[in-house]
Amino acid sequence: MNRIAQIFDSLEYGPAPEASDQANAWLDGRGRRFGHFIAGQWTGPGQTFASTNPATGEKLAELTDGSAADVDAAVKAARAAFKGWSALSGYERGRYLYAVARMIQKHSRLFAVLETMDNGKPIRESRDADIPLAARHFYHHAGWATHLAREFPGHVPHGVCGQIIPWNFPLLMLAWKIAPALAAGNTVVLKPAEFTSLTALLFAEICERVGLPAGVVNIVTGEGETGAALVGHEGVDKIAFTGSTEVGRLIRAATAGSGKGLTLELGGKSPYLVFEDADLDSAVEGLVDAIWFNQGQVCCAGSRLLVQESIEERFLAKVRARMAKLRVGDPLDKSIDIGAMVAPVQVERVRDLMKKGIAEGAHVYEPDGQLPAQGCFLKPALVTNVSPANTLVAEEIFGPVLVSMSFRTPEEAVALANNTSYGLAATLWSENVNLALDIAPRLKAGVIWINGTNQFDAAVGFGGYKESGFGREGGREGMAAYLKPGWEKTLKAEPVAEPAAAAPRNPLDAGHLDRTAKNYIGGKQARPDSGYNRPVHGPSGELVGEVGEGNRKDIRNAVEAARAALGWGTTTAHARAQILYFLAENLDYRRDEFAARIAAQTGADGGEEVARAVERLFAFAGWADKYDGAMHNPPMRAIAAAMVEPLGVLGIVAPERAPLLGAVALLAPAIAMGNSVVLVPSSRAPLSMTDFYQVLETSDVPAGVVNIVTGDGEALAKTLAEHDGVDGLWFMGSAEGSAMVEKASVGNLKQTWTSRGLAYDLADERFAGDYFLARATQVKNVWIPYGA
Ligand code: NAI
Ligand code: MG
Repeated sequence: MNRIAQIFDSLEYGPAPEASDQANAWLDGRGRRFGHFIAGQWTGPGQTFASTNPATGEKLAELTDGSAADVDAAVKAARAAFKGWSALSGYERGRYLYAVARMIQKHSRLFAVLETMDNGKPIRESRDADIPLAARHFYHHAGWATHLAREFPGHVPHGVCGQIIPWNFPLLMLAWKIAPALAAGNTVVLKPAEFTSLTALLFAEICERVGLPAGVVNIVTGEGETGAALVGHEGVDKIAFTGSTEVGRLIRAATAGSGKGLTLELGGKSPYLVFEDADLDSAVEGLVDAIWFNQGQVCCAGSRLLVQESIEERFLAKVRARMAKLRVGDPLDKSIDIGAMVAPVQVERVRDLMKKGIAEGAHVYEPDGQLPAQGCFLKPALVTNVSPANTLVAEEIFGPVLVSMSFRTPEEAVALANNTSYGLAATLWSENVNLALDIAPRLKAGVIWINGTNQFDAAVGFGGYKESGFGREGGREGMAAYLKPGWEKTLKAEPVAEPAAAAPRNPLDAGHLDRTAKNYIGGKQARPDSGYNRPVHGPSGELVGEVGEGNRKDIRNAVEAARAALGWGTTTAHARAQILYFLAENLDYRRDEFAARIAAQTGADGGEEVARAVERLFAFAGWADKYDGAMHNPPMRAIAAAMVEPLGVLGIVAPERAPLLGAVALLAPAIAMGNSVVLVPSSRAPLSMTDFYQVLETSDVPAGVVNIVTGDGEALAKTLAEHDGVDGLWFMGSAEGSAMVEKASVGNLKQTWTSRGLAYDLADERFAGDYFLARATQVKNVWIPYGA
């Protein structure tokens, strides 16, 4: 065999090491000991811990473990800088972001090498993905800063943002957090992950060199406790977190009731579907990027392979063959596929999970060959013979471990794909455009890749459904997460209503015993499970009616009915609009009756309120087919369709005030966007909404789309918050009730909106637009490549 034929046959590579001398020189120049970067100054090192190179075990530097006092100093510096920074024009802020982007690009190799040394990821990835994407994020957001006032009129920054990031994409996650925050006019305190802080410290130098005003960006290093101190600091207005679902839950609970803005980007167990008509060789290459990119330490890793039964054997044979060619080793080697895991503890975590899975019956394939003698290396693994309950299928592994299962039909593929508490991303391969575009919207995940995988871009939002968190980074949605309407600051506390002086009540003397309003569940009136009723009093304490005393069981039934009606979200927007118009028409027809009922309960002239409610239904009928998505152009031959989807089942606890409008103003945007709803009307004046059943019934609203349970608002809100079948919850009520709702929602990390005891005037025009539409929806980005 001649030499070339030999090389082709063995496909062996010589070593191709990337030089580390410049990165080492930078570390040496800093004495390999770092303090924090606060108010534009470097603090002296305090109590330190080591940052190591996981490929070699060698210590790279000593980092300071940030104390509560350090966090406090950083938050104060950010606060002091906020006024000046937010007062700059968008153009002026944009110029700084542009300068940062240029600097990252100019020093890209230093960043890439340092990242690889600190994290263990292959230099090919840090050089070609992490660092260019970080620069792209700053370029993109330089543009947003410039156009902010035009694109988000009336919006203001939150103030000081506390940002906590993980170790898997250290500089990229920093960019995802800092670029939009700064573009919007916020200042930040960022805590990098303890394993990988070095590129954040190099980034701080970049901030110095572009002359970013002192205190706009503060970097405090440290471990979990430092992060917790930042989350708990009173001077922080918004928290943005990426990391484990476990810590995400802690942060949700810790910020409950604080009024802090919150976005969470958490774990995943993303499906990777291969249909029988897929281009199998491309799907294998995609799989390499899906699960062996960054050693599988990727929140959106395609870690659950679902392959159609007819091609399963053939496909898995190709996967095994490809796995045998993957090169594991020195991450600074340019032709390495799989580098080192971030730390020994992560290697242990993966091994423990593997042991558990094997004990539960899993089979594991690992290619032959030796791993480097030292360092945090793991072989790529393919796991088969598993049921959905196997630990390796159910849990996020965060390592180079692929689990494989098969499906027979597209229906089964969708069911298996969605059978997870996570919802970050999904990938599907099929050459059939009809099949692909049918499946993509049915996958419950924030990002869908068709015939490709792990693609990211600043112009395209990224973020999860379900327990993968809430909020988006990138795209217009990501920009919006760092802004809020300016008028929110002007809200005053909701005056506490005087309880009506209840007239002495004889339960047998209710007057309208035959007209006790029941709950409304699944399109039918349902007697309350408790067997109790609650009286409704007029303004002078007279009994004007009775409603059911709803309890936990009634809420459960209502949620079940609402889940059964989720098909509402896939009816056409035009059909939903028609039904909302019909609701408006039928309510208008009964306006005198509804006005009289409002008057009887509150003493107010109800005519005006009914007119506003009709108008609001009309307004959201108009929105149903207009509040829709966008088509993004990432820098590659692909489009990303940003689809606006409903949250699913939305719980709504309506305000005490305005018994009709208060509920309708929230209900209308929710159902216009395709959610099904469990509504708890005003506790004091529920009769307007129990009368509303008849309007629902005469307006062709499908059974289960609107369910109404009367009773004590706060008690029912708690049940809704704790229920895993509820995807979102809006609560209008006291500050204490709002805190309770936020705290109780940690189970499935549902999205909440609460009024925190503030006087939201739902009659205001500002609530006839995107304020609630945005909160009733989430954006799914579907990546569609094109070209032969
Ligand atoms: P982690 O969630 O503990 O760490 C992420 C960040 O949160 C770090 O900066 C850490 O210092 C900080 N942190 C930890 N506890 C905190 C607290 N109580 N309050 C505020 N901040 C806190 O993740 P860890 O322990 O490094 O990894 C554990 C597992 O989490 C991994 O095996 C993986 O499954 C998952 N993970 C998921 C990530 C994702 O991007 N979805 C990223 C990192 C980890
Ligand atoms: Mg390290």
